[in-house]
Amino acid sequence: MTFVIKGEAGVLKGSMMVPGDKSIAHRAILFAALAEGVSVFRGFPRGADNLSTISAVRALGCKVEEVEDRIEVYGKGREALRAPKEPIDCGNSGTTARLLAGLLAGSNIEATLVGDESLTRRPMERIAAPLRTMGAKIETSAPGGTLPMVIHRAPIRNNRIELTVASAQVKSAVLLAGLGAKGRTEVEEPFPSRDHTERMFAEMGADIEYRPCHAALEGPVESLKPLSIQIPGDPSSAAFFVCLAAMIPKSEVQILGVLDNPGRSGYLKILERMGAKIQKKNLRSVGGEPVIDLVVHGGELKCTDINAPEVPSCIDEIPILSVVMTQADGQSTVSGARELRVKEADRITGMLEGLSKMGVECDEFEDGFTISGPNPLLSAELNGLGDHRLVMSFAIAAVLAKGESTIKDASAVAISFPGFASALQQLGVQITQS
Ligand code: S3P
Repeated sequence: MTFVIKGEAGVLKGSMMVPGDKSIAHRAILFAALAEGVSVFRGFPRGADNLSTISAVRALGCKVEEVEDRIEVYGKGREALRAPKEPIDCGNSGTTARLLAGLLAGSNIEATLVGDESLTRRPMERIAAPLRTMGAKIETSAPGGTLPMVIHRAPIRNNRIELTVASAQVKSAVLLAGLGAKGRTEVEEPFPSRDHTERMFAEMGADIEYRPCHAALEGPVESLKPLSIQIPGDPSSAAFFVCLAAMIPKSEVQILGVLDNPGRSGYLKILERMGAKIQKKNLRSVGGEPVIDLVVHGGELKCTDINAPEVPSCIDEIPILSVVMTQADGQSTVSGARELRVKEADRITGMLEGLSKMGVECDEFEDGFTISGPNPLLSAELNGLGDHRLVMSFAIAAVLAKGESTIKDASAVAISFPGFASALQQLGVQITQS
């Protein structure tokens, strides 16, 4: 599928909601499958990644039903889960593959995990290695330790693990395995990553302590309590609209019900220091997570730097922030962001190739890049490389460009935000798909 976008959209005004948070939705399904009782989720996002997680727990014998506006998960506890008859297909979803590996290791269930072409290129040793130190028997595929990955049955024991990369996926895999281990499972990380697993485990009655860079779980956790929540709006999806509105003077866009977890809201802090005017309203708590309404006003922006400690809090937003940097006065730098190279695509090279085509002055280096601005964007033929965040970032850049742009390989929006094009249309942007 290709997007065709007419640029120079003019002032944007409107109020909107975004799909439920993808990270929380994955955890909701996986943890509810371990719980004893029925969990009910409203506002559940229907992106392909979250659907992969639903299929995965169904393959383990857990009943999941879609009833009107809600998803119901009929958990019967860890012991009731069964080895799947066939390999579990995690599709494009790294979170499904990595968290599931931890869940299987902690539940003593044998399974093979496979994925699509992009997921099969992504590193899996980062979870297999720490899980092996807990007794897990896991084989990844050569070269490079990728999928297919086989998790064999093996008794699991607790451990203290120091991660070299700040990764919520690796931390969560270890904690999931720790549910089945006797004693204290601890994870330390170099910089704080999102803590949805810790918060949700606490809500579901697990004995867990956590603070930035540290989590400790007391196992074994015999049973988790079921959970019923409204999944808050995904800040990673909201970011496209927050950034777009911030770049167009006189625009005013309101986004209701967005998750404001500090491990995810780095993009708002960064935009604010670039001079964006963002109001946070109606702070409330949903399922142990902070939720807010956002009002964004467009205006002049200035350059900024993003360094390693801040990267985990905006890891998925760096592509769209790079578009904002093209409109900011001065040279912006991103460093300590090597992780971007092992996402659904190499997001450093992919983003800079597209922005260069749009006339942006930028420089790439191993763990980041620089972008100079303000730079009027030229329309271009862009390639989304099958990566949802690249596709949507290019679409936002195209809204600002003079003339008509096309984005090839754009069907990946369905991974996290199937309604992205209609949401843009509702703000008055001319976007068609062919
Ligand atoms: C995620 C964590 C991040 C993020 C990914 C979702 C999660 O990955 O990029 O989109 O739900 O835990 P890492 O933890 O590997 O950085």
